[in-house]
Amino acid sequence: MRGVLLAGGNGSRLRPLTRALSKQLMPVFDKPMIYYPLTTLIMAGIHEVLIITTPENEIQFRRLLGDGGQWGIRLRYATQPRPGGIAQALLIAEDFLAGEPVALALGDNILHGPGLGRQLRAHSAVRGAHVFAYPVADPTAYGVITLGDDGRALSIEEKPLRPRSRYAVPGLYFYDSSAVKIARDLRPSARGELEITAVNQEYLKRGELHVSALGRGTAWLDTGTFADLVQASEYVRVIEDRQGQKIGCVEEAAWRAGLIDDEQLRALAEPLLASGYGDYLVRLLPGVRPVPSSGIGSGETR
Ligand code: G1P
Repeated sequence: MRGVLLAGGNGSRLRPLTRALSKQLMPVFDKPMIYYPLTTLIMAGIHEVLIITTPENEIQFRRLLGDGGQWGIRLRYATQPRPGGIAQALLIAEDFLAGEPVALALGDNILHGPGLGRQLRAHSAVRGAHVFAYPVADPTAYGVITLGDDGRALSIEEKPLRPRSRYAVPGLYFYDSSAVKIARDLRPSARGELEITAVNQEYLKRGELHVSALGRGTAWLDTGTFADLVQASEYVRVIEDRQGQKIGCVEEAAWRAGLIDDEQLRALAEPLLASGYGDYLVRLLPGVRPVPSSGIGSGETR
């Protein structure tokens, strides 16, 4: 399975912050926003990811993330000239996907919770589509999904004025190889976008939209507004301070997945020592003052 990480958009709801810097490069406490969904993909067992950015911002993402080799993964880049919707990412990624199934992640969605890595890895051989349902206080800003008693999806709608349920659909979607074809047949919505919800509706029509609810111990954070951005930073800071474990730490996820070894982790830590980030990485290593083993990597290979 390959990953597609969408980091386009013009960040209009975060102006003037986003005048010169991409939204997905904004800090969420101690790391750039895109580290979080990239970590989620690594935890899902994905090692090849296409990063889709705006043409103006591509160079900054390349500077930050490189070719992924430092983390034992492969990163490629493509651009989305105008924000044409999330489903457009599937069309841009067509060659990269080469008929493989895809995990599509939004670069501004943060997911954190116990057992998440294990739960996500179960979808690497998805048939049809798999999405998640997460209860929120105000679902009107999201794709909203209704679940039957047996947990099957009954309906899915984009930003309904009168939502039929409290379940929003987070920005992490697993699709089999039909997704590209489905996206190709879409017409733009009223807001001029190829809606990812329309892709999901097609899978629903085919009886192939699978959904699992994320437990209440899971955090799904949105970073759409100034307040959301601060809230996400606060969340990460509180959990990291309390547990002594980082959230969205790409280096740690790569090391726990066995993609890099102890020496490579130590080398990655070196230039990050002055901020304390590198110190955290060094302390993960065996023989160094230990950090507790639950949290981000719980249930992982190490
Ligand atoms: C998009 C999707 C929506 C989904 C949300 C998750 O919304 O259209 O279905 O629930 O991402 O963040 P948008 O960011 O376009 O408002």
